Amino acid sequence: MTRILFICLGNICRSPMAEFVMKDMVKRAGTADQFEIASAATSREEVGNPVYPPARQKLAEHGISCKGKTARQLCAEDYSYYDLLIGMEKVNLRSMQRICGGDPEGKMHLLLDGTASPHDVADPWYTGDFDAAWHDIEIGCRSLLEKLTKKRI
Ligand code: 4NP
Repeated sequence: MTRILFICLGNICRSPMAEFVMKDMVKRAGTADQFEIASAATSREEVGNPVYPPARQKLAEHGISCKGKTARQLCAEDYSYYDLLIGMEKVNLRSMQRICGGDPEGKMHLLLDGTASPHDVADPWYTGDFDAAWHDIEIGCRSLLEKLTKKRI
């Protein structure tokens, strides 16, 4: 069992998109029972709120439902429970380390680390560009799943 927690600032756009894209990928691969996948926020800003409608719409366009997901904040206990804590952008990593008290076991990574084009997943909350976010998230999740399948992470 590999436990993955995706993390962004608000947990209403990028990290829930990554959570449900990854859940869809492992389901299609027939390996859903080998993973526990969730998402969380570094801020308290949106706690309890559902996925932001344009993000929900982008998932729905690809046949993916995120029904029932509400934002929750990352807590220090998540560090021992999850095997991988995957941030969307560098500023997330700093907040993740602050909340969890560092990263002594090297569990924290950025979604696009290790892809052909490592960069921050731009926040569609500010850019309005949910297509770009979708593109980055799909590439990042595919790369992560490939690495996990080959046990290189
Ligand atoms: P996310 O986007 O981090 O991708 O979920 C944001 C959502 C809400 C806010 C910022 C970013 N906010 O400031 O409320």
